[in-house]
Formats: sequence, C-alpha cells, structure tokens
Amino acid sequence: MEIFRISSPDSEQIDLVADMLRRGELCVIPTETVYGLAANALDSDAVDGIFRAKNRPNDNPLTIHISDVGDVDRYAKNVPENARVLAEKFWSGALTMVLERADSVPSKISAGSPTVALRMPDNDISRAIIRKSGVPIVATSANRSGSPSPTTLAHVLDDMSGRVSAVVDGGELELGIESTVINMLCTPPKILRLGSIGVAELEEAIGPVEFDESVAPASAHKHYSIGKNAVLVSGSLDKFINYVHSVENYAVLCFEGEEKFFSRPCVSLGDPNNPIALGKRLFSALRELEKLEVSTVFIRCPDGHDSVSLAVKSRLLKTAENKFVEL
Ligand code: TXA
Ligand code: MG
Repeated sequence: MEIFRISSPDSEQIDLVADMLRRGELCVIPTETVYGLAANALDSDAVDGIFRAKNRPNDNPLTIHISDVGDVDRYAKNVPENARVLAEKFWSGALTMVLERADSVPSKISAGSPTVALRMPDNDISRAIIRKSGVPIVATSANRSGSPSPTTLAHVLDDMSGRVSAVVDGGELELGIESTVINMLCTPPKILRLGSIGVAELEEAIGPVEFDESVAPASAHKHYSIGKNAVLVSGSLDKFINYVHSVENYAVLCFEGEEKFFSRPCVSLGDPNNPIALGKRLFSALRELEKLEVSTVFIRCPDGHDSVSLAVKSRLLKTAENKFVEL
C-alpha cells in the first residue's frame, strides 16, 4: 500500500493514482467532507472490492464522484432543471444528488436501482485524479461499514490498511462531516442525509424540500457505531450531571470546558457555539470514545438549529441507535 502526499493538481503523482484507479485498484482519496474509498465504476471486480474492503452491505448504493459539472449528463439522464440549479449553486461542494441513472452506468453501483447519486467534491487533488482517470469513479466513505467516517489519515489507516493499493493524504479536511444527500426524483425533493448544506439554503435555491432520513437506503443498518451503549441526552448541563451520576462505568461526550464536572473519562466535541468545529471534530471524538473501556457513553446533545449542528445531532442519534433522552 502506497501513501501519496500530493501538493499540486499538476503533480505527476496524480497520473499514478489515476492510473491505479483505471486499472481497477482501490485508492483512498481526500474530499472536503471525509476520505473516500474510490474505484473504477466500470470494473465490476473493483466495485466488489469496495464492498469487501468496507464489509458494506450490498444494498447500499455508491456515489459517482465527478470532476466537472458537465459530467452530470454522462452519468444521469432526464436531469431536472432544479438539479441543474443546485449543481450550479453548490458544486463543487458537499451536496450529493440522486438522479435517473444513465444507461451506460452499471446498475451494480446503485444496488440495482434505476437511480444514481452524483457529487463533485471540493478538492482540487481528487478532482484532478478523477478527471485524469478518464473513467467514472465511485467513492464511499473510507471506513469499515458501521463505523464513523474517516476524517484523518490515521482513521483511514486504522480502517483500510492492507485493504487498498493507495491512500492520498489530504491532511486536515475542511468539513469533516459527509455531504447532504438529496433525492431529486421526488416532488418536493427529499433530503436522505443532512450535511453542512441545510434545508434553508436548498429551499432558497429551489423552493420546498422534504427531510426524511428514514427512507434512505440502508437506513436500517448500523451507522457511526462506537460499540457501546450510547445515549444522546438533551437538556442543561446541570440536569445532565444529575442524570448520569448514578450510573457506573460510563464515559461522557461533552463540550469544551465541561470535563471538570465529571469524574469519569470525557471526550470533548469542542465549542458548541462553533458548529463548523463540532462537525470537524465529530468523527475523531467518536473514534476516541470507541477506544475507552466503558460500557455506556452519555452524549451531550448539540442544540443549535444551524445545518451543521442538526447534521451532527442526526449522526449522534445513529451512534445512540435512537436512544434519546430529553431532560
Ligand atoms: O461526503 C460524502 O458524501 C462522502 C465523500 C467521500 O464524498 N461520501 C459518502 O459516501 O459519505 P457513503 O457511501 O458513505 O454515503 C453515501 C450515501 C449513503 O447513505 C447512500 O445510501 C446514499 O448516499 N446513496 C448513494 N447512492 C444512492 C442512490 N442511488 N439512491 C439513494 N441514496 C444513495
Ligand atoms: Mg458512509
């Protein structure tokens, strides 16, 4: 397994990684959201390899990552006008759109569905690799299925070492939380996963959208699991302290400065008034909790109404397998 540190989209190493992908090898590439495990969508063995490397259930479709807005029409057909408006406004960026799949795209990547998810990552190096490969590239978060998504090279190596041919080190990623996924084939369009692009911004661009994560493919599978009994708790710090203190062998996911109120292991999610920082920190914090030898984790619930706080909350709710307590 090779690790590439690529500083410019003109680097010769771009050709090396693009060539590996074209030949059917698996490579991890950085995006502005989370690291992506990428493969040539036209190579059936390579696509199988993605599912194997992640241990991903094969009913969960993969997203084609594109390098140029014009590629939409290569991989999707009958693209609705509102999708073009969103592409214009939010790409490159943290928005994945579900569209009608073009006949040239293998149905296997979409778990047999007539749809395809497309996203154009806001990362020059990855876009250069995708463009240079000359083939459609599917990518999915580069974690073992069910685990928190990887936002650092260390996370990628923890989950993918020995399972991929190459990893492109993208350093610290800009957002750290996966893209918003929206199904453009419904009226109104339906958000399947909330990321940093929220309902208000989408509605400003195209009018009403619906938010219903329960209809997303694979929503019944485990996501963002830390292998513990986790409980998401909303309410004041005082009530939270009271609520947790009678329990044994627990840890706390709290906010910056709150550690001193607990005599148990704490992991901080950062400053609750800085949602972007919370989003960036979320998956590292979950992976730190995973390593603690406790049976229960109580999670302080972010209560901001901005899109990133809501996106963080929706992921924490999955970590807690929907165990939510309002004090
Ligand atoms: O930010 C991101 O989207 C990252 C980076 C690497 O681009 N990718 C990512 O991929 O999070 P993944 O596979 O972990 O999540 C993609 C989500 C999944 O929830 C999947 O079910 C959904 O998009 N999805 C993909 N294709 C779909 C389709 N045809 N219809 C409905 N949902 C789809
Ligand atoms: Mg994922």
